[in-house]
Amino acid sequence: MANSGVFISFEGIDGAGKSTHIEGLAEAFRAQGRVVTLTREPGGTPLAEKLRAIVLNDTMDAMTEALLVFAARRDHLQQCIEPALARGEVVLCDRFTDATFAYQGYGRGFDRQVLSVLERWVQALPGLPEQALRQPDLTIWFDLNAELAARRLVGARHPDKFEAQPLEFFRRVVAGYAARAAEFPKRFARIDAAASREAVWQDVLDAVKSRGWLA
Ligand code: TYD
Repeated sequence: MANSGVFISFEGIDGAGKSTHIEGLAEAFRAQGRVVTLTREPGGTPLAEKLRAIVLNDTMDAMTEALLVFAARRDHLQQCIEPALARGEVVLCDRFTDATFAYQGYGRGFDRQVLSVLERWVQALPGLPEQALRQPDLTIWFDLNAELAARRLVGARHPDKFEAQPLEFFRRVVAGYAARAAEFPKRFARIDAAASREAVWQDVLDAVKSRGWLA
């Protein structure tokens, strides 16, 4: 039987340390013969990458930011994610809509009901049953408190617009992720990102293996 597509997103505040584990998971899937599409948001297509550069560098109000990340997401879904899933690939996406709720909704304080409306518009796609939205099959959430994340980011490369936000902003973003995880307990796997790199990697593997996608 042909493999069916798997869509996994990775979330957490800046400094939570998700990048190396996304790469590792891509390798683990490839080692089992799966084709992996490794992508990110905002971004993942030429158009969405242009929007990413604007969102990460230019000052704008929260609604503009939300509209741009959802515009990028629409293009990303249509040009990259949906075709990859249709080919039966594993799509590993560094951030998805939970980041918009956490950063624009909780971090910036933008109206979350409006975000839900945009989510419905952008993630309802032809080929999906009516009312169904494209969502990740699994969201791996690297949970780390804002203080620890800030300490990890000290001395890292030049911070972008979000990384330069104060601690209080990231406390709200963490609370946002916690709220999303509580709302979607089946989809979310919470990982204690304060643990050692090896322990975090083991938790990432366990989350995927328990769903039967890796042997
Ligand atoms: P990030 O994914 O951390 O990439 P890098 O590791 O290269 O910095 O950067 C993306 C930033 O964009 C991050 O600070 C979170 C922010 N963001 C939003 O504010 N809203 C969104 O919807 C998404 C997807 C990201």
